[in-house]
Amino acid sequence: MAAKRRTSLEPVKKITLTDLKKSLFIFRFIKPYMWQFVVGMILLSISSAVFMAFPGAAGEMANVAIKKPKYPQLGLRVIDFGWIFFAIVLVQGVFAYFKTILFAQVSEKGMADVRRAVFHKMVRQDMSYFEQFRVGELTSRLTADIEKLQSAFSVTLGEFVRQIVILVIGIGILMYFAPKLSLIMLATFPVVVILAMIFGRMLRKVARKRQKKIAEANTIVDEVFQAFTTVKAYANEYYEEMRYAHSLQDIVRISLRFAHYRGVFFIFMMLFLFGGIFFVLILGALFVERGQMQVGDLFSFIIYTTIIGTAIAGLGNLYAEIAGAIGATERISEILRRDMEVRETPLPESEKLHFKGHIRIEDVHFSYPRRPEVEVLKGITIDVPAGAKIALAGQSGSGKSTIMSLLLRFYEPTSGHIYMDGRDIKEYDLTAYRQNFAIVPQDVVLFGGTIRENIAYGKPGAHDDEIIEAAKQANAWRFIQQFPDGLDTVVGDRGTRLSGGQRQRIAIARAILRNPTILLLDEATSSLDAESERLVQEALDRLMEGRTAIIIAHRLSTIKNVDKIYVIDNGKVIESGTHNELIGMPNGTYRALASLQFSLAE
Ligand SMILES: Nc1ncnc2c1ncn2[C@@H]1O[C@H](COP(=O)(O)OP(=O)(O)O)[C@@H](O)[C@H]1O
Ligand SMILES: [Mg+2]
Repeated sequence: MAAKRRTSLEPVKKITLTDLKKSLFIFRFIKPYMWQFVVGMILLSISSAVFMAFPGAAGEMANVAIKKPKYPQLGLRVIDFGWIFFAIVLVQGVFAYFKTILFAQVSEKGMADVRRAVFHKMVRQDMSYFEQFRVGELTSRLTADIEKLQSAFSVTLGEFVRQIVILVIGIGILMYFAPKLSLIMLATFPVVVILAMIFGRMLRKVARKRQKKIAEANTIVDEVFQAFTTVKAYANEYYEEMRYAHSLQDIVRISLRFAHYRGVFFIFMMLFLFGGIFFVLILGALFVERGQMQVGDLFSFIIYTTIIGTAIAGLGNLYAEIAGAIGATERISEILRRDMEVRETPLPESEKLHFKGHIRIEDVHFSYPRRPEVEVLKGITIDVPAGAKIALAGQSGSGKSTIMSLLLRFYEPTSGHIYMDGRDIKEYDLTAYRQNFAIVPQDVVLFGGTIRENIAYGKPGAHDDEIIEAAKQANAWRFIQQFPDGLDTVVGDRGTRLSGGQRQRIAIARAILRNPTILLLDEATSSLDAESERLVQEALDRLMEGRTAIIIAHRLSTIKNVDKIYVIDNGKVIESGTHNELIGMPNGTYRALASLQFSLAE
């Protein structure tokens, strides 16, 4: 199997010894499949070694043909070489088959283990980790990076060993049978290698520039398609077209320079490589003329040299691929070394926490880790007695959702404390702590799967009766029943499209099934029309019964009846009280908001 050719001349990283040592940890994942790996390598080495008998046999065949056999004692006829060649091919084929199967086992099973380990770490990272990266970067750890390793273990490492075996045996045989000619031949290699290195460096520099320009052009396309409505609305098609055209011009200019260098490179390589080969050839022919060498030996010498040359050329590509795989292991090891936010194993029943639901937020200040200079919460104090319902009102961007994030321990307060049933929430086991919560957000994203699975997400393994009961309480059962597949209706990206209100009610059913002590509603009804809002609100009221609830709502009508409303402005509580107390405050912010929404009779 030939090594996969690199499609583009992407810059190749140098492999340093430390990189190499660091990347060896990946063999930890290969360990369980070590014998397959080792046997595969042995089979491969044997088949490569057997293959190296071919040029020698071919040379001897030529010697036999002109009646000057080197080994007359064997009494071989030309026709016998057919069998020898057949045997060589047979060994190649059989060994290649087993090697491929063995390496596939190692790489498939080993890399599935790596994927599992990486995913295990990733899903247990805290919020700030996910904010650092774009989603695409994280998935590429699990896809592109691990695929690089997979091809390293299924093909590249094996090929690398094969080329080394070929080089060592090939050069050994040549030195033994034609020492003088071999030395001359080998002396030309360093010249070619050094030249190739110098040119390679130049080529890579231009290649990098070209790559950068291509990336720039692609960014333009990405941006335009992502912000398509904006482009259209501003009628800027022509402007974007010109921008793209300019970028393409740059690419062409650099690519042509690149081609020029490659052309020159090619001329030099031809001159030196073939110059060397022709020189050695002529020397060989002279040796034959003087009777210092047999024709058959020159014949095998040429084949050996070609095979060795190909092996050396192949090593360059393999090097690049191995460098790529080492880069991938580095990124993977970075993830595997990280600490995890939540526990490794599922929470045992005995360690579950059952809160009463008394929440006290005390003088909490907070800045997001990514923007430490902006203080989002500036001394928030809120007390929610167990079973009480409170609401957070205020302009968007004032910090309401941030308070919920802190409650869920997505982040830690910069200063101040949050207590649950009198104990600082930091002291609880994170998994056990979070199991007391359910959240219904504004935009419910359902998982690709059935409605049943989406509801049961609140309580994995839930019985159908429970799921249906939850759906009924969430005002969702009626519309679910109307689907031909009922609970088995597939939703999500590739399934049935549900309306915002329907998704909301699925999320509520999920929360009901979870039976949380504390319920967080973050603008759960804000994007709904009046009819679905009524259905959702009804479901929410049922859901909130007997639980501590914190509600963020834009429409004040939905929070009129809560025990206490906190008005948040720019990270601070500026007013608090019941609906009636707040609208009774002259010049109050809540009063102003309410008068906009209710047209208060004065
Ligand atoms: N993940 C984040 N990283 C940095 N800043 C954020 C993040 N989330 C929200 N913010 C900022 O924090 C402030 C409060 O946001 P948020 O709590 O979502 O407001 P609200 O829910 O009241 O509309 C805003 O200025 C917002 O830009
Ligand atoms: Mg918000």
